[in-house]
Formats: sequence, structure tokens, C-alpha cells
Amino acid sequence: MMAPSPEPAGFEAVARFYDAHHGRLQDDIPALLRYARRCGGPVLDLGAGTGRLTLPLARAGYPVVGIESAAAMLSIARQRVEAAGLADRVELIQADFRSFQLDRAFGLAWCGYNGFLHLHEQDEQLAALRCWRRHLRPGGVLVIDVENPRLERLAALDGSLELSARWQDAETGHTVQAFYAGWVSLADQVQELELLYDEILADGTVRRTATRFVLHILFRRELALLLELAGFGAVTWHGDYDLSPWEADSPRLLAAATA
Ligand SMILES: C[S@@+](CC[C@H](N)C(=O)[O-])C[C@H]1O[C@@H](n2cnc3c(N)ncnc32)[C@H](O)[C@@H]1O
Repeated sequence: MMAPSPEPAGFEAVARFYDAHHGRLQDDIPALLRYARRCGGPVLDLGAGTGRLTLPLARAGYPVVGIESAAAMLSIARQRVEAAGLADRVELIQADFRSFQLDRAFGLAWCGYNGFLHLHEQDEQLAALRCWRRHLRPGGVLVIDVENPRLERLAALDGSLELSARWQDAETGHTVQAFYAGWVSLADQVQELELLYDEILADGTVRRTATRFVLHILFRRELALLLELAGFGAVTWHGDYDLSPWEADSPRLLAAATA
């Protein structure tokens, strides 16, 4: 029996900061659209979050189904889809992406921006991959996009607090500062991240919202084995969003696996 996934709770607490913090990340979108053109729709957006990837796919004309377990993230995605007038092309489903069941076959399934790292145990990683393969039509493609584990970067995670971003909240006018602190647990092959959002209120007091994520440290050869065990065929490995070939010191690890 798989344990309940603890991660959505982490995202529930900080959903309202997600777009201001990560919304400017656009580098992955051309790669996503290139794969969508190559594979055709409909597209499955796994861990759709606030719809950062769902929206550009739908704008490009693809029918999209987004699977997301955190209600607060999904509610932002729904508002954005409605506001963009794309509701006829997008279905957003609150579900655990390790074990959902849809009677549809997809051309492309994309698990973006480290979503797969929220799975730490082999049974849940395999359950998710098997589930995703069942939802692809023959020849359809699954793309998993995660951080490439570089030893230098992991070794530098010593628990010290680092400022990640600073912005002015559009609604409240408050300055918000996002801080990260990270640790590596080699025994469990995970990095633990403490994420703090500090809002500086008009009277100078600070309101802190904290959350914690545990991300699996996923190596390429390990992912290759998992994909093979889950029944996938040929895999193309990219090292960044320009879809260049993967190398040991690449910033990203993208696996494009054929069902
Ligand atoms: C790093 S965010 C990425 C969101 C979005 N795809 C993006 O690129 O901006 C990962 C998302 O996966 C979701 N997630 C994590 N575990 C999940 C699970 N077991 N089932 C469904 N969604 C999950 C989280 O709630 C979160 O919204």
C-alpha cells in the first residue's frame, strides 16, 4: 500500500505565492510545445499546479487535462483558465497523479518542473509511471523534467538560508521575500527544502508562511531503469530546455520516453 503523498499539503500552504515566485519561468514552454507538435494532443499535464504549463498548451490549441492534488493550486489554475477563456479546451481534475483513471488516450504526458521528485519510494514512482503509460496511445510520449543532480550543488546545501526572490504583491502591495534552506540526506537519497515566505506588512511587522518539501535525488540511470520496469520503450535524454543531449553536468534531466 502506498503511503499518502505528503507533498500537496506543502503546496496548499504556499499556493498563493507560487505564480509570483515561479510564474516568470518560461524556458520550458518552447520545449513543451515542440513535443506537443511532435506527438499531438490531447496532452496530460501531470502535477498541473497553478496551470503554468496548462495555459500555453491550451492557447496553442491542444486539449489539456491537468491532474493536481492540491486544492489551493487547482483553484488558481481554474481561475486562470476561466479568465483566459480556455475552459472549453481544459479539464482540471483533483486527483493523486500516482493512481488516477481516465478513459482517454493521450499523445503527450508531461510531468514538469521537478514534479516527479515529490515521489520518493520506488513503489510510488513505478505506480505513477505505469499509470501514465496506460494513459498514452501507442507511440505516445511521456516527458519527465527534473533537476539534474550535480554533486557540487548538493554538497553546498548546508542548511543556510538563501534569499531566492523578492517582489511586491500585486494585491496587497506588501513586499514578499522567499528564502530557501536545504539539506541532503544521502541515506534516503533526498534533499529536504524549507521554504519561507516573509511578507513585510505596512507597519513593518513580518508575517511568515513556511513549508517543507522532500525531493528525491534522481539519477539518470535510476530513471532509465524505472522507465524500463514500467514498460516504456526508447528514451531520449535532454540536458536542458533547448533539448540538447544530456551530459553529467547538465542543469536539467529530461527523459522523453515512448509508450
Ligand atoms: C513543482 S510543482 C509544478 C507545477 C506546474 N507543473 C509547473 O510547472 O509550474 C509540482 C506540483 O505537483 C503536485 N503534486 C505533487 N504530488 C502530487 C501527487 N501525488 N498527485 C498530484 N499532484 C501532485 C504539487 O501539488 C504541485 O502543484
